[in-house]
Amino acid sequence: MSSINPQVAVGASSFAAWLVYKNFEPENLLAHLILLIILPGVIVQQSSPQFSSWTSAALAIYISFWATLFVLIVAYRISLFHPLAKFPGPLMCKITKWTLALEYGKGQARDYFIQLHEKYGDVVRIGPNELSFKTADAVAPILTNKPLPKGPYYSPRIQNGVAQLDGMRDFAEHTQRRKLWNKSVTPAAIKEYSEMLKDVVRDFVTALEKRQGEVLDLSAWLGYMAFEFMGHMARSFGLLKAGKDEDGLIKAVDDGTGAIAVIAHVPWVLSFLAVLPAAGAMKILMTFTRKVSQERIKSGSTSRDLYHYLIAEDEPEENRPSKESATADGMLSVIAGSDTSATAMSHLFYFLLRNPACMERLQKEIDVTFHEDHELEDYSKMGDMPYLNACINEALRLYPPVQCGLQRRVEKGSGGRMIGSHFVPEDTQVSAHLPLLQRDPRYFYPLPDQFWPDRFLSQETYTLPSGDTIRQDQLILERNLFQPFSTGPQNCAGRAIAQQEMRAVVCAILKKFNVEKAEGFDLNTWEKNVADYYVSHRGRLMVKLTARRP
Ligand code: HEM
Repeated sequence: MSSINPQVAVGASSFAAWLVYKNFEPENLLAHLILLIILPGVIVQQSSPQFSSWTSAALAIYISFWATLFVLIVAYRISLFHPLAKFPGPLMCKITKWTLALEYGKGQARDYFIQLHEKYGDVVRIGPNELSFKTADAVAPILTNKPLPKGPYYSPRIQNGVAQLDGMRDFAEHTQRRKLWNKSVTPAAIKEYSEMLKDVVRDFVTALEKRQGEVLDLSAWLGYMAFEFMGHMARSFGLLKAGKDEDGLIKAVDDGTGAIAVIAHVPWVLSFLAVLPAAGAMKILMTFTRKVSQERIKSGSTSRDLYHYLIAEDEPEENRPSKESATADGMLSVIAGSDTSATAMSHLFYFLLRNPACMERLQKEIDVTFHEDHELEDYSKMGDMPYLNACINEALRLYPPVQCGLQRRVEKGSGGRMIGSHFVPEDTQVSAHLPLLQRDPRYFYPLPDQFWPDRFLSQETYTLPSGDTIRQDQLILERNLFQPFSTGPQNCAGRAIAQQEMRAVVCAILKKFNVEKAEGFDLNTWEKNVADYYVSHRGRLMVKLTARRP
């Protein structure tokens, strides 16, 4: 005869499981197995003699255990006892992080955040334990001033126990690893990469010359170029030669980043990864980039490229990073470094097509700076081209390739943190939504939603596209909030590489070609097709290129 009362046992054990989930949020499979399967299993074992059969005992106990646990979780999350109870947000976001994960799954998270902040204000509860801030005073306490460590969103960046740089939560370890990246972006290192960049840009322009007069997808071609450039640091992917994504590399990055964007919001799912379809895409991406990275590390450098610095080839063996961490960061460079630049440039060309006067003005600046084509390889002049840099900045302001708020965590045991005027209790995830701040009329005015590069120029008066004139003191430009590369110690490590690449490619295209929208292509589809999967995915940008000087 069993001595336990099954109802009491189910009530007590589901309460205990709830306490564990609430306090520790376990992410590994074993913990889930113990809490969800073994714990109620023990009750079944002990109380089955009180039921007509073992099957009916199992059914009754498992169902009541899971139902009680579910009710406890939901009731607590929407109750006034929850530490985030005073923050507004949609009920479904308060109940489960799946709400947001599914918006990411649809690629619609950017629009969703716009609606949330419009409806609920500057601070919104976007998950059971998560807040999104759309206020200027949230940026420093989250990202720069005693910055917060990364949140669980970054768990997929840790593979086999080794984190990529952007998945590191311990600031001391991050600083150590980041030193390698910092060495890889000194002005001297950037100058060395420019030789590789020149090769790729030449191949790119040659490939485009062959296709003059044809209709081509400039967004796809910019993708081939950017992957080739990052690939140059490892090996050529053959994209520019083929003129298509034959091996499915870009597709793997798109599918993989799409899958990660969903899974990252519910990282406990990682433990069940093997059985989920999204995991397939993520694995293909990881396997491919790991292979490229390992091949490159094995072969050693023939020039001082990014890998040369990431594996610290100049250093004695004992000072070099482990093979695993070098591989992880090599993988990161392909994922973080290729699509982002291609997306930024594609947006810029979209806006130039929409604003022919801007395209003409930029071409004029390029012609005045570089009289002959071969001069285009003098990249040193490009940092000082005001209109070029204003145009790139304006595209990055409106559509930063990393579209979302960057999740950080107010650590357990920290006692909480003031973020702006709000006290945020410990064990809460927070993010400052930089992309929304970059379009906020309080900080970027006038025309916050329009492409108007002039805002980045320093002058006494400004002529708006309407022909009206405004004085400098009527312009609002919060430079501190223009952060497409993020800010603080975990900001983009490849910013200088990306900037040189974007400037070089934009100048090369506009010096050589006139770019016009392909007949029949509807430019309105471009913005509709921008999807937000943490990094944005983009659609087609169909254009026709013609030589400016045959
Ligand atoms: C226009 C192009 C680019 C944009 C807009 C961009 C943007 C960003 C942003 C917003 C972050 C912060 C992510 C976070 O906190 O979750 C980041 C991190 C990072 N980016 Fe970029 N990126 C670009 C290009 C590149 C390139 C070309 C490389 C490498 C060659 C690169 C390497 C990295 C790395 C390694 C990190 C992690 C830094 C850390 O955690 O310390 N990025 N990037």
